[in-house]
Formats: sequence, C-alpha cells, structure tokens
Amino acid sequence: MRIAVAGTGYVGLITGICLAEMGHHVVCTDVREEKIQLLKTGRSPIFEPGLEPMLKHNMSNGRLDFTTNPRTAYKNAEIIFIAVGTPENEDGTANLDYIHAAAYTIGVSIENDVIVCTKSTVPVGTNEKIKEIIQSVKPPPLQAIVVSNPEFLREGTGIIDFFNGDRIVIGTESREAASIMEKMYLPLKIPIMKTDTRSAEMIKYASNAFLATKISFINEIAAICEKVGANIEEVAYGIGKDKRIGPHFLQTGIGYGGSCFPKDTKALVQIAGNVKHKFELLESVIKVNYRQQALAVLKAKEILGSLKDKRVALLGLAFKPDTDDVREAASLTIAKALKDEGAMVIAYDPAAIANARKVLGDTIEYTMDIQLAIENTDAAIIATEWDQIKHFPLEIYAEKMKSPIIIDGRNCYSLQDLSSHPITYISIGRPSIK
Ligand code: UGA
Repeated sequence: MRIAVAGTGYVGLITGICLAEMGHHVVCTDVREEKIQLLKTGRSPIFEPGLEPMLKHNMSNGRLDFTTNPRTAYKNAEIIFIAVGTPENEDGTANLDYIHAAAYTIGVSIENDVIVCTKSTVPVGTNEKIKEIIQSVKPPPLQAIVVSNPEFLREGTGIIDFFNGDRIVIGTESREAASIMEKMYLPLKIPIMKTDTRSAEMIKYASNAFLATKISFINEIAAICEKVGANIEEVAYGIGKDKRIGPHFLQTGIGYGGSCFPKDTKALVQIAGNVKHKFELLESVIKVNYRQQALAVLKAKEILGSLKDKRVALLGLAFKPDTDDVREAASLTIAKALKDEGAMVIAYDPAAIANARKVLGDTIEYTMDIQLAIENTDAAIIATEWDQIKHFPLEIYAEKMKSPIIIDGRNCYSLQDLSSHPITYISIGRPSIK
C-alpha cells in the first residue's frame, strides 16, 4: 500500500519504518527540516535499538522516503497516519494544536479519497474534530475517512512491540476503512479488534492509566513492606502468579516517568473532569508517583543526615533503560532535590547525558564511566536499571566510595549478593542491609 506518516517523532518514525519493513511504500513528513535532512542520510534522530539499520535497509530498497513537503507525501497516499505530538498543557490537558494543524494540512493537500488514521494519543472526540477540519477545507465528494488506531509501543522495544503486539485496535464507523486497515495489518498475525472511534480513543488512555495504577499500587505495597519487614520482591511474585493479576508492571521503584504515563494519566483526569467525573483513583496514582520520585533523596537524608557538601553519585538519568529519553525521569527530580540540599552530584548514564544536560545544565557533573561517578562519594543513588549498572561489581563500590552507601531506587541487586560486601544498601520495599 502507499502510506504517508505525519510526524517523525518516536511513534511516527517507528510506525513508518516498520510499515516499510512490512513491504509498504511509506513517505514520512515532518515540519522540522533538520530532522528530515538527518533521516535522508539514513541516520535516526532517536535512540532506539535496531531502528537505524531498518531505516537504512528500507531507504536503499526504495520503500521509505522523507520529505518536509506534505503535498508530496500525501499526493498518492491511500492511508495517512497522524503521529504528531500531543504535549501537555499547563493544566494537564492534551495540547491538540499539532493534531489540528496536521488535519488542516491533510485537508489542503489531498487529491484523492483517503483514510486518515490517528496514532497520536488524543482525547475522546478528537478524530471527529479531525474529520471536521479536513472537510472544512476539502468538502465532499472527496472523502477522508477517520480511523483511531492507538499505538502501544514502549520506548526501547518499539520494533519488537510493533511486530509482536498483544492487539491492534482499529476504531472507525466505516466498515470499508476498517477492512482496509485490517488487511494492512493482517501479515503481522496480531489479534485485531475493530471498534467504534470513541472506544478506541478511550482504550489508549485506559491502558496507560491501568499500567500506571499497577505501578503506584505496587509502590504503595512496597512502602508497607518496608514498615512490616516483608520483601516486595516476594510479594510481587506471589500476587503476580495469580493469572487475574499477572506478573507484569509490578516492579517497584522510584516511580514511572517518560513521555506517556505522566502526561496521559493527567490528561485522563482532565477528560473525566470535563464530563463531571472525579477520577479519584487515578488522582491518587499520580500523587503516589510524585511521592515515589522523592523517595531516594529522603532515604539518603535518613542515612546521611544533612546532604550539604556531600558528594553523591546519581547512577542513571534516562527514565528507563535502553533509551536516551529523560522526560519526566525520576533522576531529574532527584538531581534537583540533591542540589537544593546542597549536595554535589556526579551523574552517570550511558546514553542520556546530552538530554539531561539540556534540563539540568551544568548544575551537576556528568560521566559515562560508573567508576568515575562513584569515586570518593558519600552515597550512590541508582535511578535507572541499565544493564551496565545492574552488572557493575559491588566490590568496586566498597573500594572506590568514601562511604559505601547505595540507595537503589530500582532494586538492581539481590539482597543475597549484598550480604558478603561491606556496603550499606537501602532499596525499595526490602529490608535494608547496614
Ligand atoms: C508506555 C506503555 O508501556 C506503552 O504500551 C505505550 O505505548 C507508551 O507508554 C505510550 O503511550 O506511548 P513507555 O513509556 O515507553 O511505554 O515505557 P514503559 O516501559 O511502560 O515504562 C514507563 C515507566 O514505568 C518507566 O519509568 C518505568 O521505569 C516504569 N515502570 C514500568 C515501573 O516503575 N515498574 C514497572 O513494573 C514497569
């Protein structure tokens, strides 16, 4: 099929490249000239395992192209995906300016009937608005049929998720469009659910809100475990064995971050509020997450007393491993709190230093060497469970730190491993080792 993708951010780029990999002819468009120029040279503007080789492969076989000119991209397209950003407004609502602009550009550019398929996470009713905008500039008989097709890709495993997702949701009132979309996705052999547009839009928010709820729930249980002397790892394993609960998203830690959960949970609270429903459960999920992000520094203060002039290693800046993304990362909250307490911070990350520097500037030091980060420090706080951190030998902490205290915000080490080292080890929801 001939496909166009509007927006070359995380979702748009992975969608476009993977659709080309499936054999479709894809043109991706973006308003940002420098991004398109970079992509045209076969380089990816985002850090995502496996993406660049797939990008190069599909450009060289002629199935994938990039342009800043939307008319070129949309001219012969049978399906146009909208995958532009929906950033958060100050009041927590989703900002739909890019969506509306993309709809308008589609309206003025298309010359044939087309399916317009929204991948971006958008509040209920947005696809109807998209249709309205397109029709206002390109009235019938030309037809633009809208479809809501939310994405469930995780950063760092986006390609795997595209080809092995649990389900594909196709939301539209048009049977014909639904069956075209189904045909396009059929080779992936992923269960396809066809539904109405509004339900599809809601499925995306409800999925992310539910996953965030699981995380805040397990973090609450971890807090109680610490007080009653239980071990959260045992508890999470035990409850996850129940098929009705499931083992996933029960990893306790210093909270969820990233570009999706924080933004989408807040947006869903707003969506509920707009129809006069107070989403109390989700409001608590969000509150618990703020508390969780502050936990590591509280624990550091408990053990060190004042943090003034203390040297603290911050291990991990990305909001999770295998990404360079620091949006809403717990590490940023921790770095700022440590600075407020008067500590000196030296941060390690294998991929996210450049992005963290954009937010934190030179208020902290950075290094790509864990050993350098922990040298002569009073405490080390683990904020991201990178493999490099998980597999870093414990004896080096004991050897290099001024006082070997690890506050492990991601429970990277087993308590058993710690028992043979002279290290004070404080983790989340597990007994401390002192
Ligand atoms: C999330 C969803 O998992 C995807 O299905 C969805 O498509 C995506 O948002 C989106 O809406 O675009 P992502 O934000 O990339 O994906 O990352 P996750 O792997 O879900 O992790 C999010 C945060 O939750 C991370 O900070 C991670 O450390 C934290 N987390 C995750 C936990 O604290 N505990 C867990 O058990 C799992």
